[in-house]
Parts: sequence; C-alpha cells; structure tokens
Amino acid sequence: MKKGIRSFIAASVFAAASASMAVSAAEPNEQVRSLVDSYKKSSGAQSFSAEEGRKFFNSKRTHSVKKEERSCTTCHTTDPRQPGKTIVGKVIEPLAPSVNKERFTDPEKIEKWFKRNCTWVLERECTPREKGDYITYMMSL
Ligand code: HEC
Repeated sequence: MKKGIRSFIAASVFAAASASMAVSAAEPNEQVRSLVDSYKKSSGAQSFSAEEGRKFFNSKRTHSVKKEERSCTTCHTTDPRQPGKTIVGKVIEPLAPSVNKERFTDPEKIEKWFKRNCTWVLERECTPREKGDYITYMMSL
C-alpha cells in the first residue's frame, strides 16, 4: 500500500515535470517566424512536422566522392540538447533553443549555416520544407 502511494506520487511529479517541459518549448521570434513563413510559401506546405525534422536530422547519407557517412548528427550528435563537436574537435553549443537561448533567433545566421552544413552533408542545399521541418523539430525539444 505504502509503495503504491509512493509510486503514485512519483508518477504525479513526473507528469508535472513533463507538462512544464512542454510549456518551455521555444517560440520563434518575429524574424524567425517570418523566415519559417517564407519556407511555407516557397514549399507550399500547410505546416511543418517536428517528426519529419527529427528523421531528417538523424538520416545518414554516403558522400558521393568521400564515400563516408555524413549526417547532421556527425557534428550535432543525436541529441540536439547536448553540445556537439566539429570535425576538428571544436565544441559546438547545443542546437535546441530550450537549452541554448541564442539558437534560431537570427535568420541570417540560420541561413548561413543551413547552406554550409546542408552542402556538406547532402551535397546540395536543403529545401524550404526540410528547413521548416528542421526548425520545427528544434523548437519542439
Ligand atoms: C561538419 C559539422 C557540422 C555538421 C555535419 C552539421 N553542422 Fe550545423 N553547425 C555546425 C557549426 C560549427 C555550427 C555553428 C556553431 C555555433 O553557432 O556555435 C552549426 C550551426 C547550425 C545552425 C545554426 C543554428 C543557429 O541558429 O544558431 C543550423 C541551422 C545548422 N547548423 C543546421 C545543420 C543541418 C540542417 C545539418 C545537417 C544537414 C547540420 N547542421 C550538420 C556544424 C555542423
């Protein structure tokens, strides 16, 4: 009986913690919202999907020349709430805005890194839909 009460309390505390985590999911600022809107317009998407963004972030591609496996996770790790590392070992601060308030606040910075990293991983730029899903995933964490 006592044990039952204890696990009931534990479950309640967990539920409360999860609820407050959901509330803490980041909201994009004005500029980033209009960047995401521009992705919506150019892709024709009604909405973007955090789940698609998660899959995109984790999917691995083999580089056509280097023949090595590359992914967003190569540098950012499979958990965007954790710090990552560049190829030369320099620390990259976490991508998730819930743990790094500076992330996804500056459209110029976002576009600059999308261009650079998509080219490195995919050998092409990311599509507006991929970018929209990606930002939606990051904001959901
Ligand atoms: C070769 C290493 C590497 C890979 C692989 C990589 N990134 Fe990054 N990424 C970086 C670095 C370095 C930064 C910027 C570091 C900083 O701002 O602290 C960054 C930052 C970003 C940012 C800027 C976020 C912001 O607002 O600050 C975006 C967007 C991004 N990456 C998207 C991607 C996507 C999409 C992929 C996969 C297609 C990817 N990255 C794969 C190294 C990488």
